[in-house]
Amino acid sequence: MAADAITLIEQDHRALEALFDQVTAGEGDRVALIQQITDRLTAHARAEETEVYPAIVQARPGEDEEVEHAEHEHYEAETLLRKARNLTASPHFDEAFEAFVAAVGHHVEEEEQQILPALRDAVDTERLKQLGAAFEQARARLLGADADAAAGSGSDGDLEQATKTELYEMAKDAEIPGRSTMTKDELAEALRDNH
Ligand SMILES: [Fe+2]
Ligand SMILES: [Fe+2]
Repeated sequence: MAADAITLIEQDHRALEALFDQVTAGEGDRVALIQQITDRLTAHARAEETEVYPAIVQARPGEDEEVEHAEHEHYEAETLLRKARNLTASPHFDEAFEAFVAAVGHHVEEEEQQILPALRDAVDTERLKQLGAAFEQARARLLGADADAAAGSGSDGDLEQATKTELYEMAKDAEIPGRSTMTKDELAEALRDNH
């Protein structure tokens, strides 16, 4: 029997938290774990944004601000994760990773206490299962795309998919000179050269 969207999303939250715990405990290869967290978190967030959040707004138009706020929190969490990722070899890593985990914890709590219950109230079981299938398909597709990008062009895949704001943030972290006047393509090129 197909699982519903809420069960699948909550399961994925627990899987992510287990990975966070491994990093915090200093278990395993930090760089590999951070890569795994990045891939899983990105696929999870994009699958929610494309398949689940629009369905919530459709069923409950009053939830639009809450959903917009949640999307902003995804962006914030991804920015904090990128910062931690740039510090994997630094003594400041623990602090940066802690800030990321706290941001995700706050978001997950809002999602599980407010957003997902609103969805459960608004739609029937059949619809929840349809959304579950759509979420899982989108997530699997995104995870596959990440694996392809990693196998093909290294971190260039990430750069091509990044928005200008994200590229600018990365350039700032990498202290690339002249970044504030660069176009999106120039930022990507400078980051590629910097690697
Ligand atoms: Fe989520
Ligand atoms: Fe979310």
